Amino acid sequence: MTPTITAVDTWEVLDSRGDPTVRVACEVDGEARSERGVFTVPAGASTGAHEATERRDGDDRYDGRGVRGAVAAVREELAPAVVGVDATDQRAVDATLEDRDGSEDLSRLGANAVLGVSGAVAHAAAAAREIPLYAHVADLAGREPGRVPLPMVNLLSGGLHAAGGIEIQDFLVIPAGAETYPEAIETVHAVRSALRERLIADGHRPLVADEGGFAPPLGSVDEAFSLLESAARDAGHEPSREDVAFAVDVAATHFYDADAGQYRLESLGRELDREGMLDLVEGWTERYPLVSVEDPLAEDDWDGFAALRERLDGTGVQCQVLGDDLLATNTGRVERAVSGGAASAVLVKPNQAGTVTRTLDVVERARQAGLATVVSARSGETCDATIADLAVGLDAGQIKIGSLARSERLAKYNRLLGIDHEAERGYAGGRWPPTTEG
Ligand code: PGA
Ligand code: ZN
Repeated sequence: MTPTITAVDTWEVLDSRGDPTVRVACEVDGEARSERGVFTVPAGASTGAHEATERRDGDDRYDGRGVRGAVAAVREELAPAVVGVDATDQRAVDATLEDRDGSEDLSRLGANAVLGVSGAVAHAAAAAREIPLYAHVADLAGREPGRVPLPMVNLLSGGLHAAGGIEIQDFLVIPAGAETYPEAIETVHAVRSALRERLIADGHRPLVADEGGFAPPLGSVDEAFSLLESAARDAGHEPSREDVAFAVDVAATHFYDADAGQYRLESLGRELDREGMLDLVEGWTERYPLVSVEDPLAEDDWDGFAALRERLDGTGVQCQVLGDDLLATNTGRVERAVSGGAASAVLVKPNQAGTVTRTLDVVERARQAGLATVVSARSGETCDATIADLAVGLDAGQIKIGSLARSERLAKYNRLLGIDHEAERGYAGGRWPPTTEG
């Protein structure tokens, strides 16, 4: 019996910042009884200009961030369009949703409305098939389920996630040397605890930012990396590409002054042009075991990204250039990056894409082109753990969830612990770069 969509329900809930977001429940007729799938849409703060566009009410509720319009769009336009459709045919469901919206960036009904339905259908289909979501996702992609991904974990936060802190958004660690996923989590916990102790000893309160990273006042980028080095050593590890490696999300679009052509690092008292940023990043890769640099330049600086890749290739350093705002989980932009050599890795955020199918297509295109993939949470999340299943189902190799703190982050780390425990899927980590089918 085909699991047909019989009903779609939706309502407004609050995310980890206390802002409204869209939750959708989808019901399907299963083999013996009806099944239900629920998905909750995340939200970014440092959103890029090229993402699918979420819809906010802009009225006086919730500082204008209400999503009653998106909820109404699901109820009145999207639900009637997908009721009666085969829930296991995700491509047909998503085509119907896109068609009903009618705009490329899904701004008419709202990408949060469209993705809400798309995600809930995937969950309902997996439930009807009585298989885990990651196995259903793998089927949708026409592949075997993959390994548990290597996590990159935020320890220090700045930018739009920590008002008043350093402009650079995330300093992360990658437990490259841990042989298993549970060991990787233990390693990160040890480093994070050591960092917390150091911050307290230095007179800081260990308060956390939006993704659970600490946000002490930092006088320089080198101070942030030195803190990570000291914390790794305090925890009995080596800061190295073989043991505890580093990653950074510069999120440079958000401190770029386009008129002046300058990156304004006000907290550090510095202004840099593109060349200055390239020198800065190259310097980090020489001094620290940095294996991933995300959005080191503004979101449309294709040439700058390509220049950085060339420089890093020239030095032979194993550091991926990861595109977030640059690529916006958009196949067309990934295509452009492939032809121009602008990135070696793609950040994958389902709500930048707008549907499950678009997300799968981006991962597939990246894989064909030999780019690494990093499935990513947003800064505004709920305890929805869909991205954990997505990363395993697609054998993404890497995942970025935020810090080892706050329940909306732990829900995903814990889902991966569950998959690791139950399914013996293997682990992509234990080395840098991680293992994927390629
Ligand atoms: P965002 O941050 O969800 O606020 O965009 C995450 C990121 O930049 O990777
Ligand atoms: Zn980013």
